[in-house]
Amino acid sequence: MLLMKLVFFIDWLLIVCGKPKAKLGFQNFTGRGGDYRVKMMTGVKMIDSHGYPVETHTVRTGDGYILDMFRIPSSHNCKEDGVKPPVLLQHGLISVADCFLVTGPKSGLPFMLADRCYDVWLGNSRGVRYSNRHTKLKASQNAFWHFSWHEMGMEDLPAMIDYILSATQQEALHFVGHSQGCTTLMVLLSMKPEYNRRIKTANLMAPAVFMEHATNKLMKMFGSIILDMKDESFFGPLGIIRFLLRVFCPKSQFKDFCAGLFMLGSEEPSTLMNLTAIPLILATHPASISTRQPKHFLQLRKSGKFRPYDFGVKRNKNLYNQPEPPDYPLENVSPLSPVQIYRSNGDSLVSRKDIHTLISKLDKAVLHNVRLKKWSHTDFIFSNLIEKVINEPIIKVIDLFENKTSRE
Ligand SMILES: *[C@@H]1O[C@H](CO)[C@@H](O)[C@H](O)[C@H]1NC(C)=O
Repeated sequence: MLLMKLVFFIDWLLIVCGKPKAKLGFQNFTGRGGDYRVKMMTGVKMIDSHGYPVETHTVRTGDGYILDMFRIPSSHNCKEDGVKPPVLLQHGLISVADCFLVTGPKSGLPFMLADRCYDVWLGNSRGVRYSNRHTKLKASQNAFWHFSWHEMGMEDLPAMIDYILSATQQEALHFVGHSQGCTTLMVLLSMKPEYNRRIKTANLMAPAVFMEHATNKLMKMFGSIILDMKDESFFGPLGIIRFLLRVFCPKSQFKDFCAGLFMLGSEEPSTLMNLTAIPLILATHPASISTRQPKHFLQLRKSGKFRPYDFGVKRNKNLYNQPEPPDYPLENVSPLSPVQIYRSNGDSLVSRKDIHTLISKLDKAVLHNVRLKKWSHTDFIFSNLIEKVINEPIIKVIDLFENKTSRE
């Protein structure tokens, strides 16, 4: 099984990087002397290294998972007094809060928000290295990994939101999610509608909700293998992956190959990617996931529906009282302002058709199309152009809700 997963991982990298159409300047990647090491880095260290205050807050979910959130409570660049409205940022699949930090203080959304006087909170979903503890289970036990993003929406997100609102004495917060981060918000707002009034603005970047028309080749090639995996940690102990990276990545013939790690589901290296951020991405990714997370996405792709995990007829009947899982009631989603959806044509996971299906189910939504043709699924967080193309528009939406005038 372990061997199969290693083969899968390496194949994945090969597919992602096999066609070096995009000429990446990987001199950056190897560093000055061509000396390349996978150093570990943490979100807290990154925030601190840029001179921002940082706090770690620990939350316990209803089902016993212990999650760490990072907080940037203020910024030396914020010149306003008064209450800072909280903003929660939620990462995507195989990713972690660190993904929002690797592009640095000038263009990283958490820093930009702190500079504009927001109280920034970064969530870490169960399973990732900051959130791999449990009151009763150990991450080395398979039982720890019996979750998908359904549980992240039902348990992790409400626990984090409740904690933030109580710590800040606020009634509601702003939400920004990437990919699976958006999935979890849709689960929460549809299944626990009382949370709608705690969300001032919902900013969804590349929301993975309806998946039927995903053209992603990785999904097609590995779908059946992944669906056959039992519920456990997808990568196994990450040490093995990191060891492989250490061995292979310094060799020039593997440099494009190694780039695959940062694509997190894009099909090929993005030409818009911030290459300087690559060592930091490597030092923080991939994040651990349960096999059930990609399995659940693959089920959505097959069914064309947005619904809870399909356990097979027998268990479905027990759990849902019907042979197939019921749809998530998306008609319940109605935060305090229209849902903001950001998408692009270059995204092979989140297609235009599926976004239109999502919008048709929502009460009120605003669609933002990224006009750059090549803008991929991960460009929302790793591109050289995020500052202007995506982060400024998001801050504008948030500012507008707070009756603040944006700087631009
Ligand atoms: C790219 O990432 C690096 C490393 O964090 C950062 O210093 C730089 O400002 C980023 N560039 C852009 C254009 O976002």
